[in-house]
Amino acid sequence: MSKILVTGAGGFLGGAVVRALLDRGDAVVGLDCGPNAAVIKAMSMSNSGFDAAEADISDAEAVDAVFAKHRPRAVIHCAAVVGVLNSLASPARLFRVNVEGSVNVLEAMARHACPRMIHISSEEIYGAFLAPRIDETHHQAPLYAYGVSKATVEHLGRSYRTTHGLDCINIRTSWVYGPGFPRDRVPLNMIRAAAEGRVLHVPSGADERIDHTYLDDAVAGTLAALDCAEHAFDAYHIASDSAPSLAEIAAVVRDLVPGAEITVGSGPYRHSDEIAMPTKGALDCSRAHAAFGYQPKFNIRAGLAATLEAHRAQLAS
Ligand SMILES: NC(=O)c1ccc[n+]([C@@H]2O[C@H](COP(=O)([O-])OP(=O)(O)OC[C@H]3O[C@@H](n4cnc5c(N)ncnc54)[C@H](O)[C@@H]3O)[C@@H](O)[C@H]2O)c1
Repeated sequence: MSKILVTGAGGFLGGAVVRALLDRGDAVVGLDCGPNAAVIKAMSMSNSGFDAAEADISDAEAVDAVFAKHRPRAVIHCAAVVGVLNSLASPARLFRVNVEGSVNVLEAMARHACPRMIHISSEEIYGAFLAPRIDETHHQAPLYAYGVSKATVEHLGRSYRTTHGLDCINIRTSWVYGPGFPRDRVPLNMIRAAAEGRVLHVPSGADERIDHTYLDDAVAGTLAALDCAEHAFDAYHIASDSAPSLAEIAAVVRDLVPGAEITVGSGPYRHSDEIAMPTKGALDCSRAHAAFGYQPKFNIRAGLAATLEAHRAQLAS
């Protein structure tokens, strides 16, 4: 059976994509490196349909060897240095991995006749939103290196479509959350604190409206895009299509966990003391709905409830 290559397969989203592909019977090769190489090795021990490929995407020869061995029919490209703060901590590494690494994957696709890439892009390509709800035609003005790298990979995909006929589809998602999220960020830190009986005061951001996508919706949209035979567009929003404020999210958490002491200070949300977040909002998902039936199933309450249940189960185990 022909395989699907998932890069970043040991990560939060890549791992969930792998599990969903295996559940429906696809053969998968998962690529990762560093600490998450051990994660994909463990996955290969417990899943007969899964092959682990330890490789750094910034190593062109290593990437080519994975394609030569496994001959994937499609790539779901999740490997990246992720997030605004990580990108600012090490910009040169960010571009080596996110941009040069993506070029290495695209080159290998062209050489080994692998026609389709689903690239996990980000709303960070837009920079500040000019309206409370935006569609895929919104002006792109990324503010940080992370968003610049994601926009660059989108354009590289277009370039490889022109030069090599590759079909590169970009999933522009928002803040994905759910069990296992690897970074300390809202709303997961609120759920963790509430479940563990800790007081949490997020210093600022009460009125900041952000689209939060539950993990299962992000995975469902990604696979629907993979399965869609013909695409009229090369970029789709896969998100929740709503943007609750952090104050509203904190209220939902307090409602789910009576007695929880979760509060948010006023003003814009800050990535750090120095870096304020630009205005964001909801990602209009009508294009993905019309193209391949994407419909988010988790509003913020349902997603937080599912995250809470998973966290409580983990605490109990
Ligand atoms: N989680 C979100 O909120 C979110 C939002 C928008 C877009 N995205 C995108 O989704 C994708 C997955 O993000 P995530 O949240 O699962 O992050 P993650 O950090 O959990 O996963 C990234 C994976 O990439 C791997 N990786 C990093 N550098 C690599 C390299 N040089 N070679 C091979 N593998 C490498 C990491 O080991 C990790 O397993 C990323 O492309 C990210 O930009 C995520």
